[in-house]
This record gives sequence, C-alpha cells and structure tokens, in this order.
Amino acid sequence: TSTLPIFSQEDVAKHRSPEDGIWVTYKGGVYDITDFVAMHPGGTKILLAAGGALEPFWALYAVHNQEHVLEILSEYKVGEL
Ligand code: HEM
Repeated sequence: TSTLPIFSQEDVAKHRSPEDGIWVTYKGGVYDITDFVAMHPGGTKILLAAGGALEPFWALYAVHNQEHVLEILSEYKVGEL
C-alpha cells in the first residue's frame, strides 16, 4: 500500500518545465523526473512526454522495455493518479 499523494492529470500537466518541475505518468504512477532529464541516454526526447503519459513514447522506443529502466523510473515516484 502506498502513502504517496494522489494527483490529477491536470496537476501533472502543470509540470512541464525545469521551473515548474517535469512530471510524467506511467501505469497510474506519477513521477517527478526533473533531476533525471539531464542524465537521459536518449537526450531531450524525454521532454516530449513532459506533463503527460510515457506509454505512447515507450511504445515507439522499445529500448525502455527493460527492468533496469523501470528501476530508474521508480526512484522518481512522487504519487499516484
Ligand atoms: C534510452 C530512460 C523517456 C527516448 C533510454 C535509456 C534509459 C531511458 C535508461 C537507455 C536504455 C538502454 O540503453 O539500456 C528513460 C526514462 C524516461 C524516458 C526513465 C522517462 C522518465 C523517454 C521518452 C522518449 C525517450 C519520452 C521519447 C520520446 C529514448 C531514446 C533512447 C532512450 C530514443 C535511445 C538512446 C540511444 O541509445 O541512442 N531511456 N527514458 N525516452 N530513450 Fe528514454
């Protein structure tokens, strides 16, 4: 069971810049990836998902379909949808 806060899609959509923070969603989780953006092996493409869902992008870039990628993502979890 999670003790993390619940956010709306609208809350997430407000976080799409370094100033406001960069948030994404994945399978019902909300992630603040602001500090990961500069470390992303795929460069600034990660910003395409800012404020929204990772799923459509990860469906195109199957390189993310690996356990170690999900482990990285899990470090940045801040809440649930
Ligand atoms: C590669 C993480 C979002 C595009 C990678 C890799 C990681 C990663 C760990 C290297 C995988 C490997 O080689 O084993 C993440 C995380 C994301 C994210 C944690 C979200 C929080 C995105 C988005 C896109 C994207 C939204 C595209 C719109 C790419 C591309 C590569 C890549 C193109 C391949 C880079 C290369 O090897 O040249 N990502 N990614 N990523 N990512 Fe992401």
